[in-house]
Amino acid sequence: MNIAISNQKGGAGKTTTTLNVAGALNQLGNDVLVIDLDPQGHLTEGLGFEELYDDRDRDALIDTLADLDRISRGDGTDLIVEHQEMDAIPSHERMINAEDELANEMKREQRLGMLLEGVANGYDFVLIDCPPNLGVLTDNAIIATGNVLIPAQAKTTSIRAIELLFKQLRSIETAFDDVQELALVANEVEVDGEAEEMMAWFRDVFEDKDRCAVFEIRKRVALQRAWNAGVSIFEHSEDCDMEGEYLAVAKHLEGFTDE
Ligand SMILES: Nc1ncnc2c1ncn2[C@@H]1O[C@H](COP(=O)(O)OP(=O)(O)OP(=O)(O)O)[C@@H](O)[C@H]1O
Ligand SMILES: [Mg+2]
Repeated sequence: MNIAISNQKGGAGKTTTTLNVAGALNQLGNDVLVIDLDPQGHLTEGLGFEELYDDRDRDALIDTLADLDRISRGDGTDLIVEHQEMDAIPSHERMINAEDELANEMKREQRLGMLLEGVANGYDFVLIDCPPNLGVLTDNAIIATGNVLIPAQAKTTSIRAIELLFKQLRSIETAFDDVQELALVANEVEVDGEAEEMMAWFRDVFEDKDRCAVFEIRKRVALQRAWNAGVSIFEHSEDCDMEGEYLAVAKHLEGFTDE
């Protein structure tokens, strides 16, 4: 099953969610591939692959996405690197030019999907960490997967971001194919009135959608420390009381694969 982790709002928790949901899926015995589609490469850094991000001589994801012939040949497995919990396709500094490079190209929104056809088969789950904007890269991730998991801070400023994202999803459905919202992961939830109101709003909006569920991850420095250590909280030495909630997200996602 392939899933885009998407919310164009910066700092919503996309990268933290990708890393720890991948860690949870791995704990449950799944083979997981994560793809860092963000030109800033935070997930790449969080997995300890910053050297690959900086390596100018390396053939990277963006070089494949920019080359339709190569994607059509099914090339892509050579982009995969191994991490202790998951496999990964890292980002690269050249990805910063991707939006411009792809702007006028044929099949520009479908290229990641074509690439996935060649690489996703060996995995139970492919999670794609999207950049913080609604551009051609995010469109690629959503069209390639047909599934989105939305992380969002439990703050009123998230409402407009989610409404804009829904608009984009519906326009992708009109031009391409159906998109299913799998889950909303409220992130960095604090104990205050605003968070409580937002949790109610999330439940209202997302639990109305077919099989979609809402999860709640609290603000925990252990999540930052795990990221600093290059692993999910499941492999990190420090215990974190959010492991159970990430496992609940992972089990919810496994539920879609029984169909
Ligand atoms: N639940 C949490 N508790 C504490 N810190 C968190 C939590 N979630 C995320 N953070 C921290 O907040 C920052 C932003 O989170 P993250 O990078 O996951 O968001 P993002 O949506 O991927 O951001 P961007 O839009 O820049 O890609 C990071 O420094 C991360 O370590
Ligand atoms: Mg990120």
